[in-house]
Amino acid sequence: MREYLFPILLGYFIGAIPFSFIIAKIKGIDLRKTGSGNVGGTNVLRNAGALYGGIAFFLDIFKGFVVVLIVKDLGINAQLLAGSFAVFGHCFPIYLKFKGGKGVATTLGMFFGVYPLSGAVFFGIWLLVVGVTQYVSLASIIALLSASIFTLLAGKDYWLIFLALSLFSILRHRSNIQRLVNGAERKTDVIDIFLK
Ligand code: G3P
Repeated sequence: MREYLFPILLGYFIGAIPFSFIIAKIKGIDLRKTGSGNVGGTNVLRNAGALYGGIAFFLDIFKGFVVVLIVKDLGINAQLLAGSFAVFGHCFPIYLKFKGGKGVATTLGMFFGVYPLSGAVFFGIWLLVVGVTQYVSLASIIALLSASIFTLLAGKDYWLIFLALSLFSILRHRSNIQRLVNGAERKTDVIDIFLK
């Protein structure tokens, strides 16, 4: 059990660094009171533009990726623990009174770290759905599920962990799902914002 304490603590405390919140704050924006109110890259992109949004996305993805990399020599279980706890840290950050984001970017980083192909599938599907629909939440939900199913089809025995993390993140999209059903979800033209 003691050998798992390091990945758990490392994952949590790095995952809890609220990069999106910090980046928006540098621009003078309190994400919790702006747009969707979510402490995530999408809300930075929406309210602070491509540069700030891009940096926020990158750092939130990177923290999920880097913790997996750091514990590589400790084995796959340590990697899965570090990555999962990075996602929990992002969603329940001690630095923000445990009110964090929805975990999509950090889960993507974790997927990239553990099984890069699943990260590529995630990113490809996310880009496609967001490009077609402009609903980031819908793209996130579909990409999370697709990457988990891909991991199952690829015969990776940790696919269930990927699926559990995906369902956890999807659960945090309850308000988005309600708005999607009611036709009231915000559209964010991610590709246009980046190309402008
Ligand atoms: O990454 C979170 C995204 O899927 C939805 O973000 O700000 O539209 O709730 P938001």
